[in-house]
Amino acid sequence: MKKFRVGIVGLGHRGRYIVKLVKHSFECAEVVAACDIDPELWEKNQWQQSLPMKEQLPGVRFFENYDRMLEESELDLVLVETGADVHADFCIKALERNINVFSDIPSVANLAEAKRLWEAEQRSSARLMTGANPNEWGFVNAMVDLYNKGLLGEPYYMEAEYIHSSRNPGPANPLIVHSPWRKKLQPIRYCTHSLGPLLRITKEPLRYVICIGTGVHINPDAVKDDMQIALFQTESGVTIRLLRNGACRAFIGLHSYRVFGTKGYFERIDSRGNTPPAVRFRSDELYGADTITELPHLLMPNEYIENPNAGGHGGADYALFDHMFKAMTAGEDMPITLRDGLIMTLPGIYAVNSLKQGGAKVTIHYPWEPEFDADIKLIDEE
Ligand SMILES: NC(=O)c1ccc[n+]([C@@H]2O[C@H](COP(=O)([O-])OP(=O)(O)OC[C@H]3O[C@@H](n4cnc5c(N)ncnc54)[C@H](O)[C@@H]3O)[C@@H](O)[C@H]2O)c1
Repeated sequence: MKKFRVGIVGLGHRGRYIVKLVKHSFECAEVVAACDIDPELWEKNQWQQSLPMKEQLPGVRFFENYDRMLEESELDLVLVETGADVHADFCIKALERNINVFSDIPSVANLAEAKRLWEAEQRSSARLMTGANPNEWGFVNAMVDLYNKGLLGEPYYMEAEYIHSSRNPGPANPLIVHSPWRKKLQPIRYCTHSLGPLLRITKEPLRYVICIGTGVHINPDAVKDDMQIALFQTESGVTIRLLRNGACRAFIGLHSYRVFGTKGYFERIDSRGNTPPAVRFRSDELYGADTITELPHLLMPNEYIENPNAGGHGGADYALFDHMFKAMTAGEDMPITLRDGLIMTLPGIYAVNSLKQGGAKVTIHYPWEPEFDADIKLIDEE
């Protein structure tokens, strides 16, 4: 069987993990090339690694120059694991050479990039897979199944929070020292982990947003709000409230979601101290489920429970690649498309625009809509 030739750009903490997952867990793939502008990440041992990457990936050719890697490696797939605010140009260059792309999230940093990336994929014979791992969690599949079976009715109000305990730069926190984007990215822009799962059960894209921030109270040197809160709305009024943090001293579980539907309710509330995460629902439509009913807490998607290779964010990382490689083998569209990535990424960029206007209501558009071009000028240049 011909193996997919895989290259990676970005050997930060996430890239190092992802490239090893692909190398060790997927027989259909062969990692042949790796690229970073910092050769020390290849040559020298790094945080949480037992050996330098060059020893962990023998036979893999290392490049400091991305264009050269694309030119000289005959790749079928590039893994884009550069910082959260610099994905699009790497993706575009690969698509222009008809090389498939796995891009981590958020998909783009601004509207102009979204337009260029969208058009590059339209012109390409290759496709982009959005690396939205929370979309793959078992409890998210359970929520989608409840929805598809009509047990929740139609969602009209939803909530999500992604609260990451405060990390301050320093030797105890090498991640933030090495990854500049972690210090400066507006929290609300890192919205894909929260919006992605909820948009799986939302029929319309998000159309409006208002967003406010708390300002800085915890660390006077911080360059972003301690907390940002956005209200997103679809044209028919379906509303999502999203809470994201900059600095935060709560130290609670990271990801919570609530879905209020016309015929039921679903929630996944993450851990609080010794209280483990809980997944619950109720439904008008299911005999015996008219009071709140607890479901098993599933991070691992059901189909991988017995798979010793399945790992990474509770198995969600493995699921992303398994689904992607199966689709590539079958010649099918990517399971989480570029369009999916943009509808979970762009609302965060519009939210920052609302934030800058003190919470003004802003209308969201997408690259496949005629109004988008005017927004590029208005929103990007703010
Ligand atoms: N899905 C998840 O659960 C999850 C978790 C963590 C991070 N992420 C995403 O993974 C991505 C990487 O995160 P990270 O923390 O490892 O970032 P990072 O900033 O630590 O690493 C990015 C790497 O890209 C390299 N790079 C930058 N420009 C380059 C260029 N022109 N050519 C070659 N290399 C270049 C940098 O030198 C750096 O080593 C981000 O997009 C982040 O949002 C996703």
